[in-house]
Amino acid sequence: MEQIMRNFFLFLSNNKTLTKAAKKYGFRFGASRFVAGVDIHEAANKIKALNDKGFVVTVDHLGEFIDSEFEAKQSAEECITAIKVIAKEQLQAELSLKLTSLGLDISHELVMENMRKILQAGREQGVTVTIDMEDYARLEQTLKIFTTLKQEFDNLGTVLQAYLYRVEEDLQALNEYNPYLRLVKGAYKESETVAFPDKADVDQNYKKIIKQNLLNGNYTAIATHDDNIIAYTKELEQTYDIPSEQFEFQMLYGIRLELQERLLQEGYKVRIYLPYGDDWFGYNMRRLAERPANVAFVLKGIFKK
Ligand code: FDA
Repeated sequence: MEQIMRNFFLFLSNNKTLTKAAKKYGFRFGASRFVAGVDIHEAANKIKALNDKGFVVTVDHLGEFIDSEFEAKQSAEECITAIKVIAKEQLQAELSLKLTSLGLDISHELVMENMRKILQAGREQGVTVTIDMEDYARLEQTLKIFTTLKQEFDNLGTVLQAYLYRVEEDLQALNEYNPYLRLVKGAYKESETVAFPDKADVDQNYKKIIKQNLLNGNYTAIATHDDNIIAYTKELEQTYDIPSEQFEFQMLYGIRLELQERLLQEGYKVRIYLPYGDDWFGYNMRRLAERPANVAFVLKGIFKK
C-alpha cells in the first residue's frame, strides 16, 4: 500500500497542470509546513529565526516546469535577489537551485548564462550555491555543467543520489574537483535499470558513499532524516577521526524538528534546506511520497490554509 501511495504522489509531483493550478491558488494542503513563505522576505524572517537558534540554512526558490526563456531568466533573477538579501541581512545561508528552473530543458547556452550570473553574484557576496540533483535523465548534463563551472567558480557544490547504481563511480570522478557534495538517498521515481528499488540497498549504498567521500577528505553534507545513517556518520567520525569541520548534517525545513535540535545541541553543524515561492506543489508531493504518513497534514491543510 505504501508503495502505491508513494508512486501516486510522485506521479502528482510530475503533473504540469496541477503544478500551474497550485501556483494560482496559493498555499494549500499543508504547504506551509514544508515551504517557508511565498517570497524571499518572508523566507528571510524564517532564516533569521533559525540562525538565532544556531542553524545554518540553504535557501531554495521553488520553480518547476519552466518552459520559456523569460521564466528561466526570471528564476535566475530571483536567485540573485536571494543572494543579495542573504548578504544584506547577514544571514547564515547558502543557495540551492535546480537547473531545470534556469532553462536546462530549453538550451545549454541559456542555463550556462543564468548559472554564471548567479555564481558571479554569489562570489561577490560570499554565498555558496549548490546545484540540486534532479531525475536520472538530467544527471549527465548536470554533472557536466557542475564540472565545467567548478573550474571557474569556487563557490559551487552539487548533490549525488545513493539510489543510483553508478553513484560510486560519479563520486570518484568528482574527487579531482575537491567538491562540496551533498549526499542524499534520492527523491525521484527511477527505473530499476538505473536505481536500487529496495530501501535496504539504497541505505547500504548511502553508507558506502558517505564513508568514501569523508575518507577522500572532501567536505560532505549528509542530507538525511534517517537515524541509522546519522548514527553511522557519527561512528565514522569516531573511528577515522574525521574533523568536525569536514562535514555537516542537512535536513529539510519542517521535517524531524526534534532531531534537528538534538544534533545542534550535540555540537554538530546542521543546515536546514528552506524552500520558498509559490511553486510549492511538486516539492510538497515529493515530501508526501517520502512519507505518506504526512497525508494527515494534508488533510488538515484542506480545511486550514
Ligand atoms: P528515509 O526516507 O529513509 O527517511 C528516514 C526517516 O526520516 C523516516 O522514517 C521518517 O521518520 C523521516 N522522514 C523522511 N522523509 C520525511 C518526510 N518527507 N516527512 C516526514 N518525515 C520524513 N533528493 C534528490 O533527489 N535531489 C536533491 O538534490 C535532494 N536534496 C536534498 C536536500 C536535503 C537537505 C535533504 C534532507 C534531502 C534532499 N533530497 C534530495 C531528498 C532525499 O533524496 C530523500 O528523498 C529525503 O531526504 C528522504 O530520505 P531520508 O534520507 O530522510 O531517509
